[in-house]
Amino acid sequence: MPSVVVFDEFGGPEVLHVVDEPVADPGPGEVRIRIEAFAVNPLDTMTRSGSSPGHVVLPHARLGVEGTSVVDAVGADVRDLRVGDPVVLAAVPDATARGSYAQYTTAPVGRVFRRPAELTVPEAAAVWVGFSTAYGALVETARMRPGDRVLITAAAGAVGRAAIQVAAHLGAVPIAVVRHAGKRDELLAAGAAAVIVTDEQDLTTTVAELTDGAGVDIVLDLVAGPGIVELAAAARPGGTLLTAGFLDLRPAPFPFAPLTFVRYRSFEHTLDPAAVRRMAAFLAAGVRVGAFRPVIDGVVGLDDVREAHRRLDSGQHSGKIVVTVDR
Ligand SMILES: NC(=O)c1ccc[n+]([C@@H]2O[C@H](COP(=O)([O-])OP(=O)(O)OC[C@H]3O[C@@H](n4cnc5c(N)ncnc54)[C@H](OP(=O)(O)O)[C@@H]3O)[C@@H](O)[C@H]2O)c1
Repeated sequence: MPSVVVFDEFGGPEVLHVVDEPVADPGPGEVRIRIEAFAVNPLDTMTRSGSSPGHVVLPHARLGVEGTSVVDAVGADVRDLRVGDPVVLAAVPDATARGSYAQYTTAPVGRVFRRPAELTVPEAAAVWVGFSTAYGALVETARMRPGDRVLITAAAGAVGRAAIQVAAHLGAVPIAVVRHAGKRDELLAAGAAAVIVTDEQDLTTTVAELTDGAGVDIVLDLVAGPGIVELAAAARPGGTLLTAGFLDLRPAPFPFAPLTFVRYRSFEHTLDPAAVRRMAAFLAAGVRVGAFRPVIDGVVGLDDVREAHRRLDSGQHSGKIVVTVDR
């Protein structure tokens, strides 16, 4: 029987285990997919440890919001996809019934799209969350335009790297913010116009120098915490500050500033099939011309899923950790 990764209690990576379960049939408007690989996201480790704000029913909770697969069966009313089509899964968190940490799952047809042929299986498994978040936040929400100066925190992470590529591809000016100098050259090579290393440089002064005192047009913040006050001060009056991640869980004051503040959640876009189509088209076009590529930290097999979570928890990864499912 096919394998599924589940957990019965909140805790460290050791709570994850693999069970064998029969596959469900796709309902009307759904496909069943045979997953080839999935990527591990910070949301997964938060869900596993019990710190995710989402509702998780125990025991037997599932994980996974992205992956790549082959269509295995189609439900009634599905016309655009056939058995054997390679697809990317754009999932929403669903710890009860679905999740990409499995050999098979079902999904509404609006949450899969054809896999760009240029991507390897690990790349296709790791492309959705980072690039859809970057596109959804910067393009759909903040209406980023060519020439906009865009400050991106946690820029060496999966979402940050995708945001650099999306901004650079559209002619905006991505300014990457990282804690340590080690990844500076890599991010410049990936399209960042400048890299601010907060261990060495003062953020406010450096942004002022880089923007001739004007401030940036858009901040995409993946960190939150007390640093958000400084980020708000780095934006020009009338600019936009999007908070999408919470890597720093310390309490923070609300940064009163004349800005548009947005709490961005990519899953709100993923629930809208029209938005998924736009995101998939944007992604495919960027991949085709070589502008978009996820960075892969490493690939492990399903039996090493706990190891994949340990690595993400350690913070030693650089790019996406991918788990292949074929056993
Ligand atoms: N709202 C949404 O829709 C959405 C979608 C996807 C992801 N997210 C969130 O976005 C965040 C980033 O996700 P990701 O997939 O890019 O993560 P990731 O690939 O694991 O990268 C995290 C990066 O953040 C840096 N970092 C970690 N803790 C930090 C801190 N306290 N201060 C500053 N930098 C820190 C790390 O760099 P160094 O250790 O090298 O400094 C690392 O490069 C997560 O909180 C995730 O849950 C939100």
